[in-house]
Amino acid sequence: MKEMWDKRYKAEEFVYGKEVNAFLKDCLDRLPLKGEYLFPAEGEGRNGVYAAQRGLSVFALDISSQGKKKALALAEEKGVHIKYEVGDIADLNLEENSFDGAVFISAHFPPHLRSFYHQKIARLIKPGGYVILEGFSKSNLPLREANPEIGGPKNVDMLFSIEEIREDFKDFKIVELQEVERELHEGSLHNGMARVIRFVGSKE
Ligand SMILES: C[S@@+](CC[C@H](N)C(=O)[O-])C[C@H]1O[C@@H](n2cnc3c(N)ncnc32)[C@H](O)[C@@H]1O
Repeated sequence: MKEMWDKRYKAEEFVYGKEVNAFLKDCLDRLPLKGEYLFPAEGEGRNGVYAAQRGLSVFALDISSQGKKKALALAEEKGVHIKYEVGDIADLNLEENSFDGAVFISAHFPPHLRSFYHQKIARLIKPGGYVILEGFSKSNLPLREANPEIGGPKNVDMLFSIEEIREDFKDFKIVELQEVERELHEGSLHNGMARVIRFVGSKE
């Protein structure tokens, strides 16, 4: 898995682009986000770097050391600082209730690990803190089969449903939880009309 992501990120181009994910930008525009945010599965850094430009303190994590290299280069290009650890969410050992929020963008995991990872990160968030998540819906699969340019997992069990996300974050008040169809233009790997699940939850 690490080898696959390192190989993908070795390319000079930013495979998901350098622009922030549109849903995260929208959340930063409309929600009172502040303090320290965890960005698990952050890849090449487009989201954490933008969040840092908007004033958040960013702690990024990913299994790919190539991802870290590119994220730190992007941070330097934009004149911000982010903290970035190379490691697996499974091994993360941080204090519970210590972050103001977490951001998962296109962070898909094997089905037997998804809930465990989501709940592990959820425990690190302080009461009142936010989880922001956008990922491909199970109903994206037929769209992806018709247009592989959309990208995202091909395995339906790695894709999200509203029910799974509600269950994974059941200690959170739902601010938003919906499936939407939206046009993706994210680097060379996410392009076309896709179906995604969007979630914003506030920890009770
Ligand atoms: C589709 S990419 C998304 C990257 C980034 N969030 C973005 O939107 O540009 C998925 C990322 O998940 C990371 N990843 C997968 N499993 C992981 C794990 N168990 N712990 C940490 N990172 C993981 C991969 O290395 C990869 O960078």
